[in-house]
Amino acid sequence: MDFKSQLNINEVPNHIAIIMDGNGRWAKSHNKPRVFGHKKGVVSVRNVVEGAGEIGVKYLTLYAFSTENWNRPKVEVAALMQLLVATISNEVSSLNKNNVRLLTIGDLKSLPGNCERELEKAKEKTKNNTGLSLVLALSYSSKSEIVRAVKKIANDVVKNEVKIDAINDNLINDYLDTANVPSPELLIRTSGEYRLSNFLLWQIAYSELYFTNKYWPDFTKEDLFEAVFDYQNRERRFGLTSEQIKN
Ligand code: FPP
Repeated sequence: MDFKSQLNINEVPNHIAIIMDGNGRWAKSHNKPRVFGHKKGVVSVRNVVEGAGEIGVKYLTLYAFSTENWNRPKVEVAALMQLLVATISNEVSSLNKNNVRLLTIGDLKSLPGNCERELEKAKEKTKNNTGLSLVLALSYSSKSEIVRAVKKIANDVVKNEVKIDAINDNLINDYLDTANVPSPELLIRTSGEYRLSNFLLWQIAYSELYFTNKYWPDFTKEDLFEAVFDYQNRERRFGLTSEQIKN
């Protein structure tokens, strides 16, 4: 089925977040080393970024490296960092050509120096682009993001710059890494795992969740369109009744 032509272009999610999972298992199923799966995963990233732009998604957040991923074997971590640097420096001109703005969330300072520099450079070079915002979650976990936000708020309370009574949903949003990014309407996870793995826990309070058995390297823009089609056939009630939504 051609899902793209079935989409209601006025109801495309503004923000889609993706937990890209299954690179390792994909590689294993092809009798290749895990890194081969990550390399193939970059091809999927490119394809899905293109697809998101085609249907008018404004924000696409990709979980590329979690704080927990630091505990993987050293060689795999090094290969992932290397792949990230190479991909970012190769793709900047293509991001600019396609009007894509690069943003990041997570603790960039904990990345190797060359990786952090490459990312900062790419963000600077793409900052005026007005099409899709591609948000890479790197050295990211939701709980550490929330801890950092709470510390900053506490600090501002001590300095008397924030009143305790002023602490509400909106203020907390403003202290998260995603301060200027709207909440995702749709969260996709590949590889048949049904977990959130410490990803955007605050931001997905009302997101629709979509799970697919496909491993990330097999996930294409057609699969993205299928997920959006599925999303468009759901009723989002935000705690109200179906009748209230219809009226
Ligand atoms: C999950 O598969 C994937 C990752 C931890 C890394 C994702 C990274 C990429 C797709 C490449 C770099 C990305 C960018 C944006 C340039 P897994 O290794 O957990 O697979 P498994 O669960 O099958 O072992």
